[in-house]
Amino acid sequence: MAAFVVSPLKMGPLLVLWLAVCLSGTWAVDRGNFKTCDQSAFCKRQRALKPGQSPYRALLETLELTNTKLTLQLINDNNKVRLLLELYRLQGNMTRVKINELKPLKPRFEVPDVLINDPPTEPLSLLSRDENGVVLSLGADSQRLIVSAKPFRLDIMEGREVLLSLNSRGLLAFEHLRIRKDTISYKIKTKVNSMWENIKWVFSSKVDPEGTENKEETEAANEPAEGEEVWGEKAKEDEKVEDGMWEETFKSHTDSKPNGPSSISLDFSLPGVENVYGIPEHADSLKLKATDGGDPYRLFNLDVFQYEVFNPMALYGAIPVMLSHSAQRTMGIFWLNAAETWVDISSNTAGKTVFGQMLDYVQGSSETPQTDVRWISESGIIDVFIMLGPTPADVFSQYASLTGTQAFPPLSTLAYHQCRWNYNDQEDVAAVDQGFDDHDIPYDFIWLDIEHTDGKRYFTWDHHKFPQPKDMLQGLLDKRRKMVTIVDPHIKVDSSYKIHNEIRSKGFYVKSKDGGDYEGWCWPGNSGYPDFTNPEMRAWWASMFAYDQYEGSMENMYTWNDMNEPSVFNGPEVTMHKDALHGNWENRDLHNLYGLYVQRATAEGLIERSGGVERPFVLARAFFAGSQRYGAVWTGDNAAEWDHLKISIPMCLSLGLVGVSFCGADVGGFFKSPSTELLVRWYQTGAYQPFFRAHAHLDTPRREPWLFGPENTALIREAVRQRYALLPYWYQLFYHAHHSGQPVMRPLWVEYPQDTATFSMDDQFLLGRDLLVHPVTEEGARGVTAYLPGKGEVWFDVHTFQKHNGAQNLYIPVTISSIPVFQRGGSIIPRKARVRRSSSCMEHDPYTLFVALSPKRFAQGELYIDDGHTFNFDKQKQFIHRRFSFANNALSSRNLAPGSQFTTFSWVEKIVILGASKPSKATLKTPDGKESLLEFEFDASMSVLTLRKPGVNAGLDWTVVLQ
Ligand code: GLC
Repeated sequence: MAAFVVSPLKMGPLLVLWLAVCLSGTWAVDRGNFKTCDQSAFCKRQRALKPGQSPYRALLETLELTNTKLTLQLINDNNKVRLLLELYRLQGNMTRVKINELKPLKPRFEVPDVLINDPPTEPLSLLSRDENGVVLSLGADSQRLIVSAKPFRLDIMEGREVLLSLNSRGLLAFEHLRIRKDTISYKIKTKVNSMWENIKWVFSSKVDPEGTENKEETEAANEPAEGEEVWGEKAKEDEKVEDGMWEETFKSHTDSKPNGPSSISLDFSLPGVENVYGIPEHADSLKLKATDGGDPYRLFNLDVFQYEVFNPMALYGAIPVMLSHSAQRTMGIFWLNAAETWVDISSNTAGKTVFGQMLDYVQGSSETPQTDVRWISESGIIDVFIMLGPTPADVFSQYASLTGTQAFPPLSTLAYHQCRWNYNDQEDVAAVDQGFDDHDIPYDFIWLDIEHTDGKRYFTWDHHKFPQPKDMLQGLLDKRRKMVTIVDPHIKVDSSYKIHNEIRSKGFYVKSKDGGDYEGWCWPGNSGYPDFTNPEMRAWWASMFAYDQYEGSMENMYTWNDMNEPSVFNGPEVTMHKDALHGNWENRDLHNLYGLYVQRATAEGLIERSGGVERPFVLARAFFAGSQRYGAVWTGDNAAEWDHLKISIPMCLSLGLVGVSFCGADVGGFFKSPSTELLVRWYQTGAYQPFFRAHAHLDTPRREPWLFGPENTALIREAVRQRYALLPYWYQLFYHAHHSGQPVMRPLWVEYPQDTATFSMDDQFLLGRDLLVHPVTEEGARGVTAYLPGKGEVWFDVHTFQKHNGAQNLYIPVTISSIPVFQRGGSIIPRKARVRRSSSCMEHDPYTLFVALSPKRFAQGELYIDDGHTFNFDKQKQFIHRRFSFANNALSSRNLAPGSQFTTFSWVEKIVILGASKPSKATLKTPDGKESLLEFEFDASMSVLTLRKPGVNAGLDWTVVLQ
């Protein structure tokens, strides 16, 4: 919830405003609460620099090449400040470029805890060197890295082709740390220093008549020489102090900037590239837009009240990773910086219509497409990983090798979650739980929002409303269901609250610039903010989830971390002051990391409480690169509007591209009340998105699935049942995301990288490789046009089994009963047809295999099974992983993971073969030599063959032969 309350007195009006929003339908973010680039001093300064000749020169005489890295000094010829460039070739076709000040006044922040290890390097070898620069070999595919000296630039080439250039537009800019010069104390100090220097010089010249000692170094120190170019201006004797360099005021907040200006920037040019993606979180299209006409995309974790769709404003999370894609190649740029960041994109084809581009082509005037990107961050260093692909799958593995993969969630968390702000009391929870049974709708988790606590004191219960939390949890457990409670990272300042007292006495709170505990307003009123960047604080926080610490908790209770941007209602832009202190570092340096640390500490707590046995589940709103290792995220406070349903697709796709597969949007929309049609469509869409949770604002009317009449209840039931039936496939996709970093929900271009028709699709997506989903996101829609990719491929409608050819735009009439979903010909998808009241109840149920034949009558698929909730799959290799193959009229199941072991009670109860011809008999063969004939049915009109009751255990080898 973004709020803009400035005092406790205003909490009332805030609620009134929410009500007004809910009832009146006015929907707009208050832009005045959030900075534009122009209002953010460093962004404005940086953006004022225009492309041109870079003032930076590489000092080739300083080059050092060891087996693992190249170092080289760069000098800014305008102010003589030197930078240190480090270049690494990393294993797996990546290059790392680090640039820091050679001698900063004090260390600059380098992001910790995001990389999973020190990335392994590969030897760099020098191919040639002259006064213009050096050429290094990058090993793979005749790739070379060219370092040009004057002006400094880097080019990565493959053969004769430039893949990417750095600083080719001269926008490398590094604001060196400096001493403030316009203060009286500085002037006195300088005077005294210079008098002292004179005395020393007089004295030393008697010893060293030339007086040359250290002269160079002193000059190259962090000061511009008189009259030299500084930030495009002629520097005066005292360096000009621009507005916002040492202090900046936004609305009523002044940022003290004790370290002065420290921003950094670098440009990247991508020849041949027209499409860039990623850098979540923004409520915008999947394909990123050129930003020349407006603000850059902003990455700064913020609690934005009433966020609007299709704009580049910052939202709750930030992942500074961009993917570039063309029919030839996919690459990635990972800008490892946790400070406020802005990303500018320009493209020489942006804005040109397809017709315009064709005309250019016909007239021979077409220039090579190129996308230019510029990153600007407020502080820290330049630390960039260039992932050279070349395929989308390569980029995903490259990024996973740096920041890790998606946490493998408990299977039940992939099922349906029922949430609202709030379920009022134990009776309410029991009634909603029963409602699902009465209406025969499965669900796994019921959620409790902030009102369940004693006055927003997290880790506690409101004992009037929830007198017996364990009884409530036991009741759910008896039905094999679970609960999530909210634990936000702001802590009520209250001397009778144990959590607060301990954090305070241990000195674990973030400090304000004056050294006292930082305090701000959030749900509980005046709150402290634990310093999650401190490992001791995290260990203590984790220990609070122990069953004997968190009163009333049980093993079927998991956690929701909200407001972890962090949200500070009365802070600048509704977040923490940038000059607040985390140990020695300012919030400015690591702002975007805070949310990751909160989720991490909580996930560690849930693991520890089980003695390291159970997989955790933690949902967080704010995130950073690497957050995928700790749980799920959702897209925050959306609204019950069709546009918000639409935007949930590109928002989750963008997250998946940069490692975070476990993503969802509040089903139904958080603010406002959905029409019944919108609610139904949202369930149908959410059922095919990774994190499937309905949620609603406190002031909205209740919307449990059975409150809209029997017909709509049936529609929602059907949508949820489709999700449950498909859980084996979802689980398998998450296993792969965990194992190899491949996204669960994918844009089509990931699987059809050469098909330009897919490059800017926002309205449909793939789950894994094999399911294509085209949600219905238009009110009153009677049909949708889905694009079925793959020339020579076929797709089967999963509802009707009708076969369609790819590649084509296919108009599909729709009714309100479901959304179009297609299975790729050539795939095999396992489902469980007997949907029960929760996923755990379906654990031992049998499987149905859907075999969709390719035109060549071939298909392949997998099945992954484990206990669904512990780490035994990893630590003890307790899992089953099968490969199903259909070829030469035989379907077989083989072990994909020799050495692993797990026993399942589940068996294969049915096999449905789409695109089949009628056999005369079907024989099941097992390794013990037994053969049996299977009963089957054949639907000639749809070419569907159904084999009844093979009855084989899902963990064993078997073959079915069709004759
Ligand atoms: C924030 C969350 C929302 C939650 C509310 C109360 O607005 O985004 O999901 O219901 O806070 O905790």
